[in-house]
Amino acid sequence: MRAMTTREQSAPRQVRIYEVGARDGLQAESTIVPTDTKLRFIELLRAAGLREIEATSFVSPKAIPQLADAEAVFAGLDRGDGIRYPVLVPNRRGLERAEAAGVDAIAVFAATDDGYSVRNIGMTVEESLATFEPILRTARTRGWWTRAYVSTAFGSPSGRVDPARPVELGLRLADLGAQEIAVSDTLGVGVPSQVGDIVGGLISGGLPVERIAFHFHDTRGTALANVYAALQAGVRCFDASAGGTGGSPFAPGAAGNLATEDLVYLLDGLGYEHGADLAGVLAAARFIAQALGRPMASKVGRAGGWDPSTGQAIGRG
Ligand code: COA
Ligand code: ZN
Repeated sequence: MRAMTTREQSAPRQVRIYEVGARDGLQAESTIVPTDTKLRFIELLRAAGLREIEATSFVSPKAIPQLADAEAVFAGLDRGDGIRYPVLVPNRRGLERAEAAGVDAIAVFAATDDGYSVRNIGMTVEESLATFEPILRTARTRGWWTRAYVSTAFGSPSGRVDPARPVELGLRLADLGAQEIAVSDTLGVGVPSQVGDIVGGLISGGLPVERIAFHFHDTRGTALANVYAALQAGVRCFDASAGGTGGSPFAPGAAGNLATEDLVYLLDGLGYEHGADLAGVLAAARFIAQALGRPMASKVGRAGGWDPSTGQAIGRG
């Protein structure tokens, strides 16, 4: 604990918020959101100061019909001002589509157990690593930014996951060329002690803390506690989804990414710099909630932020 506090104090006060609302947030919604609405949502996220916005997935439209318009979304993005728009790539076909679309940042995704992996991407974990190896190599040859998700890192539909398992997979994916390892609580079952174990394992295995990101779902209300544990461990990149939408269609009940507005509220209060503006994030969150026809899933979405100089809520609709 003492060692982690030291690491936290010496780490920078700058946090990267990696926005996944347009991808993870929309992929499991029963409503298929029109392309123009997705583009407007991304524009609002950009206007809120977010600089890493996962845009879509070049996956099978049969697997994820919600993102079948990946080419159109990517073509409609306002690029060229230093914003990173990563896309998910599951296989060689996805890589070809992504390359044709003109991407420069991709993410691959492996799970901790074969059952989930086969259901999600039709491959065992080992098969998926064999598939990702040439994809990551090609991406690096092209000079693209690369990330690998380790899904179901905190627990899988088949049960408990030993922290050694996401650590082993994360290190292997880093060896295969992934610059960033996004350790993901796909089911939203994780607790802070697991965060510390996984970060410690990755760092002991030689992965610099700057290459670790966390992806939490707030399914059981533990996401912000987990973020805090990761901050204490020196991690400075967190995924979040404006409005708290999201979840994998293959992880039953896993609705609700950590909401960007909840993350921003915490980071602001703790004094971390991140570049996003809470009122702007709330505007994007409100927009997508309305498009989906339901209330925002987040606490800060309902209550608004709080201005300590006036005691008033801010950013309420
Ligand atoms: N983009 C578009 N179509 C694709 C594709 C891709 N990346 N990969 C495969 N396909 C098509 C094939 O052309 C084939 O089409 P056909 O039936 O018209 O001939 C069909 O999908 C089946 O291809 P196959 O290689 O047998 O793949 P599969 O059915 O085993 O599916 C994946 C594998 C990876 C493509 C699919 O499971 C998938 O896209 N999963 C993504 C899941 C996801 O995004 N989860 C959330 C993220 S955590
Ligand atoms: Zn997710």
